[in-house]
Amino acid sequence: MKSPKTRCVIGVQWGDEGKGKIVDILSSDADYVVRFQGGGNAGHTVVVGDQKFVLHLIPSGILQEKSRCVIGNGVVVDLVELLNEVQHLRERKIPVDKNLIVSDRAHVVMPYHKFLDKLSDVGKGRIGTTQRGIGPCYADKAARKGLRVADLYNPKLFRERILQFTREKNLILKALYGGAPLDPERILKEYRGYARKIKPFVLDTVPYINDAIERGERVLFEGAQGSMLDLDFGTYPYVTSSNSDACGISSGTGVPPKQIRTVIGVAKAYCTRVGRGPFPTELKGAVGNRLRKLGGEFGATTGRPRRCGWFDGVASRHAVRINGIDELAVTKLDVLNAMDEICIATGYQLNGKMVPNVPTDTTQLNRIKPVYRTFPGWKKDLSGIRKFSDLPRKARTYLEFLEKYLKVRITLVSIGRERGETIIRR
Ligand code: GDP
Ligand code: IMO
Ligand code: MG
Repeated sequence: MKSPKTRCVIGVQWGDEGKGKIVDILSSDADYVVRFQGGGNAGHTVVVGDQKFVLHLIPSGILQEKSRCVIGNGVVVDLVELLNEVQHLRERKIPVDKNLIVSDRAHVVMPYHKFLDKLSDVGKGRIGTTQRGIGPCYADKAARKGLRVADLYNPKLFRERILQFTREKNLILKALYGGAPLDPERILKEYRGYARKIKPFVLDTVPYINDAIERGERVLFEGAQGSMLDLDFGTYPYVTSSNSDACGISSGTGVPPKQIRTVIGVAKAYCTRVGRGPFPTELKGAVGNRLRKLGGEFGATTGRPRRCGWFDGVASRHAVRINGIDELAVTKLDVLNAMDEICIATGYQLNGKMVPNVPTDTTQLNRIKPVYRTFPGWKKDLSGIRKFSDLPRKARTYLEFLEKYLKVRITLVSIGRERGETIIRR
């Protein structure tokens, strides 16, 4: 068997690492770009010239005219959001009708999922979700009470299930949250309309992607969220409801693990997190505010301010391990241009003792004191630089330390939002 030409792009931190930008660049070299998990909670930004695109469900490869873009079975699809995104891309003359494919096994986010997400994520233990219905939809999938895209085209079954599920959810909405009941007939009518509109995109994507790989075509998998938001290996329960690391690719597409060849991790040159939960290197004072301002750190999906902090080496090592990261893309290096000093957490201390790994227990993780290594800032503008060797020496020292610490080669450095503001290292 020929070796597969497959790569994947995975967030190393808590999401928003700049995966959209990196996927857009790597898509120029991909026949297929495939999303395998998450849903409308993702916000992937691509900037081409003076045009900005924010993609939530459609793979970021859609801006490269030749890539077929697949929404895999592991994604939870909000049909309202998907149709809005399709319409928006059509208006901007992106050939979405030619290139988009949606798995018939993907689960559908229903109106009650969004209501439940909003109403239930409250109080002391709240996660701070994006309120896109992600958790409730994946919960129903696991409970075998979900609706899949294929079900939209089985009128009898679709009707029965909508009636049953809406009735059940109305009881929960009323009893637990005092919410108004939803009208199943109205939902049914609405979703019949959406089903008609998305029909041209729907396909059994399992043979579609696997055949492409077997033909030797180039397939790029696009992760959403980041490794520290992974349902199993992230900072549970302050995580998303899917496997956002490379382990999610197989279950989210039907492509066997042995066919995933290269894993590319994406990390910011510092760190951010949006929503609640532990963040050991968070900077709550002036430096954090400065990073937020310089990096424009506001959520692409919800507009919420992102929490900012230094690069967390310990968490990143964890991500390198669980994903088997082969190469690293470091983004937003330019955001650090003005800093006098830059830190990397190279160790975690708990109760005065060093701990080698990211603690599983959230309360312990909240009490971690990071041990920092400090680097002098380069205090230079990086715009126009396209070769790694042309970076200021102090910037190279910073990156080379990261390579050595994480034992991963940095193959791409991003120094601005625009597609071209990128250093590719062969
Ligand atoms: P994603 O969810 O991982 O795709 O990342 P987001 O799009 O949510 O957030 C990344 C933000 O950083 C976006 O606004 C990008 O346009 C921007 N960005 C990406 N790379 C760079 C970079 O190298 N420098 C700067 N200044 N901004 C960048
Ligand atoms: P991209 O793909 C950053 C966070 C939410 C919340 C937690 C659970 O753009 O990197 P959810 O709505 O998934 O149930 O929320 O996960 N979160 C993200 N944070 N980037 C994302 O996606 C995120 N998707 C979810 O803020 O803390
Ligand atoms: Mg994002």
